[in-house]
Amino acid sequence: MRRLFPPPTATPAETSAETSADTSVFTDVFAEDREWGLDELADAYAYPDPPYGPSGVCLRANMVSSLDGAAHHGGRSKPLSSDADMRIFGVLRGLADAVVVGAETVRREGYRPARARKAFAERRAALGQGPVPAIAVVSASLDLDFSRPLFTEPLVPTIVITGAAASQERVKQARAAGAEVVLAGAGPSGRVDAAAVVTALKELGHTRLLTEGGPTLLGQFTAAGVLDELCLAVAPLIAAGDAKRIVDGPGLAEPEQFALASVLEEAGFLFTRYRRIYQ
Ligand SMILES: NC(=O)c1ccc[n+]([C@@H]2O[C@H](COP(=O)([O-])OP(=O)(O)OC[C@H]3O[C@@H](n4cnc5c(N)ncnc54)[C@H](OP(=O)(O)O)[C@@H]3O)[C@@H](O)[C@H]2O)c1
Repeated sequence: MRRLFPPPTATPAETSAETSADTSVFTDVFAEDREWGLDELADAYAYPDPPYGPSGVCLRANMVSSLDGAAHHGGRSKPLSSDADMRIFGVLRGLADAVVVGAETVRREGYRPARARKAFAERRAALGQGPVPAIAVVSASLDLDFSRPLFTEPLVPTIVITGAAASQERVKQARAAGAEVVLAGAGPSGRVDAAAVVTALKELGHTRLLTEGGPTLLGQFTAAGVLDELCLAVAPLIAAGDAKRIVDGPGLAEPEQFALASVLEEAGFLFTRYRRIYQ
């Protein structure tokens, strides 16, 4: 892996009669292509310090896309991913207070609880974070298999965020499995306003938020104006087909603006990081 942006720093070589004036030496250790340690990746992706944006949290999304914009292939994101992508996926989890994800991604990708990793233990303890991020599942239907390890075996309780009109029976099953159920929407459909999802997590003390999608949920975060950062991996693949793009939903009145923060590269994958520009 190597960093492409910000551009690696170079210092001019000592000029002498034998060396030309434009000879430079890259002194930036991130310029060379080599395997990065988890600590280096964690430093590169560290959350900004508070104060955060208008929502009072930092909501980061981590998504992968093919060159032609597919967010999955055959209903899974794995065919678009790579070892480096999975490493960064793990690091972003290692830095987050909570990972918020749409129920369809949980169903399709067979979500499991986050696992505690030694590499992040000290960093997390220093920030007052638990051993792993809480996984927060957003669902209106609560059509989730509450007997799965995601709900029965996590190191910290999985959070289920749903509307007040959600099925009481399903809420009971979720709680019986050990999930923390948050009723964050008053509408008749069981749906939750995306901004209310963020507020609910903030009220639980989670401010370094990571969303792993899917596109429907990310579309709602974007529409609500609460997405602060996008970590987008561009896979050197063309998938064609009719897969969703990484953000799905009605078009915004005005496209939201982001500024490029960094680009890493490994094996042709670009790992971009963009920060929202607040007007
Ligand atoms: N490329 C990537 O990085 C990436 C990342 C994640 C997922 N994916 C792929 O994306 C696909 C799944 O994404 P998706 O867009 O179909 O679904 P999704 O966003 O993962 O989940 C949609 C579901 O989340 C719940 N939900 C969303 N907004 C809600 C709201 N406001 N209130 C209450 N519940 C809400 C609903 O669940 P209920 O139906 O339970 O009510 C809804 O059906 C999969 O194929 C997955 O592989 C790709």
